[in-house]
Amino acid sequence: MPILNILRYPDERLHKVATQVSEVTDEIRTLVHNMTETMYAAPGIGLAATQVNVHQCVIVVDVSDSQNELQVLINPEIISSSGVSDNEEGCLSVPGVFAKVCRAHSISVKAVDINGQTYVLEASGLLAVCIQHEMDHLLGKVFVEYLSPLKQKRILTKLKKQQRNAM
Ligand code: NI
Repeated sequence: MPILNILRYPDERLHKVATQVSEVTDEIRTLVHNMTETMYAAPGIGLAATQVNVHQCVIVVDVSDSQNELQVLINPEIISSSGVSDNEEGCLSVPGVFAKVCRAHSISVKAVDINGQTYVLEASGLLAVCIQHEMDHLLGKVFVEYLSPLKQKRILTKLKKQQRNAM
């Protein structure tokens, strides 16, 4: 399975809004496998299709240390949420940047699995935060956009410097 290229902020393609998956085809299953492999290799705890330049509502998450609690969420939809938590977040599309974002502490999320079955996942803590972060990607939103304009400007400066140094 190939490792996919992850778009880096501020790539404009990270702002595209993903479309719903109408049917879980072999193509979608291959996408899920490749996204999972890419997430584990990075390593990361979540990846949205948007980040690999596929604009369909597919996310994969695994917040375990041992990389054996994979959750695949196709067409995820939050049906209820409660509580508040602000956690330090990072993102594979914004390497080296971490910042606190305010999210719901617990969520119920309805999604479709790799077999095309609809299910409801109850998540709290890190898993809930991660799912909300990845769902934002599907809407074209990157976590740093919750920060103040000044902080966003600093982050952009830092990323430009990183990219220059990498050339
Ligand atoms: Ni992210």
